[in-house]
Amino acid sequence: MSHPAGAPPLRLRGARVTMRPLEPSDFEAWSEVRLRNAAWLEPWEPQRLEGAPDPARDRQAFERRCAARDRERQMGTAYALGLFVDGALAGEVNLSNVARGAMQSGTIGYWIDRERAGRDYVAEGVVVVVRFAFEDLGLHRVEVCVIPRNHNSRRVMEKLGLRQEGLAERFLEINGTWEDHLRFGFTAEEWHTRREELAARWLVPASASPSRRPPASRADRSAVSSSPSGSASPRRAGS
Ligand SMILES: CC(C)(COP(=O)(O)OP(=O)(O)OC[C@H]1O[C@@H](n2cnc3c(N)ncnc32)[C@H](O)[C@@H]1OP(=O)(O)O)[C@@H](O)C(=O)NCCC(=O)NCCS
Repeated sequence: MSHPAGAPPLRLRGARVTMRPLEPSDFEAWSEVRLRNAAWLEPWEPQRLEGAPDPARDRQAFERRCAARDRERQMGTAYALGLFVDGALAGEVNLSNVARGAMQSGTIGYWIDRERAGRDYVAEGVVVVVRFAFEDLGLHRVEVCVIPRNHNSRRVMEKLGLRQEGLAERFLEINGTWEDHLRFGFTAEEWHTRREELAARWLVPASASPSRRPPASRADRSAVSSSPSGSASPRRAGS
């Protein structure tokens, strides 16, 4: 069971994307997108522990993953969110390592289906999660950590204007190697200064404000079509 009694479903919306925790019934979609994108994603993700079953191939492993994410959410330590475009699973934007006390921070990580890449969906998802982190969770700082050679991810940071704080050496294990990471920080003060600008660009559906639509990117100009998700509200739909 993905949502224990008493825990209301978490649903977040941007201009085009919808975000929610993954559920056991998402296994087929997860399996299809993760297996098809294995070569696209593996260079940028931690290695699976040796002998651990692959949630993309093993339904029970996927269900255990969902249950672990549910427990993290209940404890307030992490918020893993599937990113949906036109109702289809397209990727994830996760807020993890949530620390309270004097820190009040969290780390954002993400990936997207290569067939959906290049349309600014991840930047939109990051803004949705940033708003959730500051306005719903009351955090003070979020960060994104990027391997310097990951130019696609650095473009996401550039598009959002997140502040680059420096290089953390051998910071995370990625695909079997302790990789240096650029750390991008964003505080609640910066969010409140830039909230209107970021919300107008990333959270308001184009149908509500055509002039504010994000500029067309490479994939928008390609033959692959995409339409807005039709979400009526840019605000959080659940709690
Ligand atoms: C990094 C990533 C999440 C960016 O998501 P996205 O929604 O495609 O981001 P954008 O639309 O802003 O595109 C960023 C850049 O990716 C490149 N790109 C776009 N489509 C691409 C494609 N189909 N293939 C390769 N690169 C592509 C472009 O250089 C683009 O920059 P541009 O918009 O200035 O042309 C995505 O590339 C991804 O999932 N990569 C693999 C996993 C990963 O790197 N995760 C992040 C770890 S920090």
